[in-house]
Amino acid sequence: MAGLLVSLNFALSADGKAATREPGPSGFASSADHQRLLDLRAPADALLVGHATLRADSMSMNLASRPDLAAARETRRKPPHPARIVLTRHPDSADLADLAAKPGGPVHLLSPVKLPSPPAGISCHRIDTTRADADPQADPLAGALTALATAKKWDHIHCEGGPTLARRLLACGLVGRLHLTITHHLFGGGTSHTLTGPGWLPPFQASSRWTTTERVIRENEIFLTLQRSN
Ligand SMILES: NC(=O)c1ccc[n+]([C@@H]2O[C@H](COP(=O)([O-])OP(=O)(O)OC[C@H]3O[C@@H](n4cnc5c(N)ncnc54)[C@H](OP(=O)(O)O)[C@@H]3O)[C@@H](O)[C@H]2O)c1
Repeated sequence: MAGLLVSLNFALSADGKAATREPGPSGFASSADHQRLLDLRAPADALLVGHATLRADSMSMNLASRPDLAAARETRRKPPHPARIVLTRHPDSADLADLAAKPGGPVHLLSPVKLPSPPAGISCHRIDTTRADADPQADPLAGALTALATAKKWDHIHCEGGPTLARRLLACGLVGRLHLTITHHLFGGGTSHTLTGPGWLPPFQASSRWTTTERVIRENEIFLTLQRSN
């Protein structure tokens, strides 16, 4: 789908890490970062996360705490909350049914396992997970996302991580816009998660270039927006 924008939002420590050694929520960024996260959700047709992030951060994936943003969407003839997409190998997990029970858009699961009868509010889309890092361009995740966007008439899918999912989206060239928050922490760890996945993975086959279109310093953090330029 030529017109589909896939954007990605990440908070990174000053040494480029996306998470600490703690398995819990990654809320190490400021309240300004949290407000920006909500602002970035608002224009999207759908929000996308990996199941591990949904679990770790106990996400609701909605705009419930910003009724002004939800109302502004409705004036643009959009539903008050974006749809919610989760990449998972375990579509029958209780936390996914919990997500669907929270306020927010309909939940779409992308999974190698198709639930025969998903709970109310959940659609399950089967994706072939046989992909090789040797050919990331052929990642079926890209095809599944573009097919879903086409079927739903979505122009914009906004991803909030985590690193495993972000790596796949970046490796197959699907991401057109990056929103980064560089925080005032150092986490360390040679194998820690970064924006492009766990540190033990090899570099991409080809590097990509990005143009900085926004750069703001607020609450001791740097907020960047980058557009893909090749
Ligand atoms: N700094 C930030 O801005 C930021 C943003 C987001 C997340 N995080 C942090 O990142 C960590 C989680 O990231 P992560 O990289 O571990 O995971 P992730 O990218 O959030 O999720 C990856 C998920 O993909 C699913 N998956 C993996 N391989 C698959 C396949 N072949 N087919 C279908 N589904 C597949 C798995 O689901 P199942 O679990 O169901 O198998 C897995 O949970 C957390 O600590 C979170 O707090 C930080």
